[in-house]
Amino acid sequence: MSTAKLVVDGKEYEFPVVEGTEGEHAIDISTLRARSGYITLDPGYANTGSCKSEITFIDGEKGILRYRGYPIEELAASARFPEVAYLLVYGHLPDQDELVDWRRQLTLNSFMHESMHNFFDNFPPTAHPMAIMSSMVASMSTFYPGSGEDETVDENIVRLLAQAKTIAAFSYKKSRGEPMVYPLTSYSYAANFLRMMYATPAEEYDVSPVMERALDLLLTVHADHEQNCSASTVRMVGSSQANLYASISAGISALWGPLHGGANQAVIEMLEGIRRDGGDYKKYINMAKDKNSGFRLMGFGHRVYKNFDPRAKILKAACDDVLDELGVTDPLLDIAKNLEGVALEDDFFVERRLYPNVDFYSGIIYRAMGIPTNMFTVLFAIGRLPGWIAQWKEMREDRAGRIHRPRQIYVGKNKRVFKSVSQREHVESAPRPFATWSYDT
Ligand code: CMC
Repeated sequence: MSTAKLVVDGKEYEFPVVEGTEGEHAIDISTLRARSGYITLDPGYANTGSCKSEITFIDGEKGILRYRGYPIEELAASARFPEVAYLLVYGHLPDQDELVDWRRQLTLNSFMHESMHNFFDNFPPTAHPMAIMSSMVASMSTFYPGSGEDETVDENIVRLLAQAKTIAAFSYKKSRGEPMVYPLTSYSYAANFLRMMYATPAEEYDVSPVMERALDLLLTVHADHEQNCSASTVRMVGSSQANLYASISAGISALWGPLHGGANQAVIEMLEGIRRDGGDYKKYINMAKDKNSGFRLMGFGHRVYKNFDPRAKILKAACDDVLDELGVTDPLLDIAKNLEGVALEDDFFVERRLYPNVDFYSGIIYRAMGIPTNMFTVLFAIGRLPGWIAQWKEMREDRAGRIHRPRQIYVGKNKRVFKSVSQREHVESAPRPFATWSYDT
């Protein structure tokens, strides 16, 4: 076994080097503090491995993404989302019987507890569907307690995967003031979601195979991405032995931000802004290069991918096909392609190795499918569920695992003496009537 040496204050410490099955290397510093009193400082955890995992492999330099060893390109071309979900959660592809049963369970468990419907009546009509999604998933633990226990874990996993699409579609229906539509066992996971979104009591909705396939593909390419912000959040919360629903609800909140899953909504808003502004995309490239502008090219850049994002490659190809097949022309697609073309040639983006990520083209496909912009991140969340669940399950089954509890370097005030408010200078010099006092925070 190879080792790494660290010399601090003239003392030498030796640490084991860990090697992954794909040849990745890490220095195991888990005994560092106990032995030396030092910790490592790694803001944003860019160099920190928080766990060993068998779920997803990424090589950011080579643009490789594999779920349980299977390349994303092969899964995207030939597998369907429920099969991929099963693979991620249980570590192997299902056989025929397992797959039939799994698909059936994903529909049979789609129905929410009747009392959960009441919640939808009390969210304001303007509520963002991600807020509804996160709240509803957390609330599931009140209806299905014991969701962290060994005996019930599988039924809660399938229930969560199944009900997520219902919750998402219901939140859309609610925002339109339309009655909810229930799932049918004869429909696939993706088709059920689309039908629950678009059917009305007055009119059945025939799900087009193009739409069904496009949604399935989008869910598949989002299904896991190892220790990203939301998956790490799920593990962080789950490490305290919080239940499945509480942990996943936290992951949904983490995903919402525009630097993470919320980027798909932000990309479309950015492209619309450019179009309204006359389509001058070069102006926005310049803004993105100007650090003082506070503007970033949404859908560009990635912490891990430094040459290309394989998911973006798949979606860019799918984008042309889907728009073609649906007979949709979208001026935003031209703006996106121009923006990408210019950015990929520009020194600023080339030097920083910034490429379109998964969110750059996904929004254009969602738009072509008639999905409202504020639902894009919800669809990312539904796609990412199997990954979060797999990460939570793996962490939970690792009996040697510990509660996640990073350290810090304190850079605040040194010890000082507390004085009561009347002793503090500014209060003495400028006394205020009691009624207007507020506490300093
Ligand atoms: N536009 C302009 N400049 C950028 C961008 C961008 N989109 N992304 C990174 N940079 C610059 C950044 O200013 C920095 O420049 P410098 O070295 O001169 O200070 C350099 O590139 C490195 O950026 P960073 O912020 O240190 O990189 P990070 O790894 O911390 O952040 C990121 C990764 C994805 C948050 C970031 O690239 C970003 O904000 N992208 C836009 C938001 C986005 O599309 N997010 C979706 C990510 S993919 C979906 C998912 O899985 O979450």
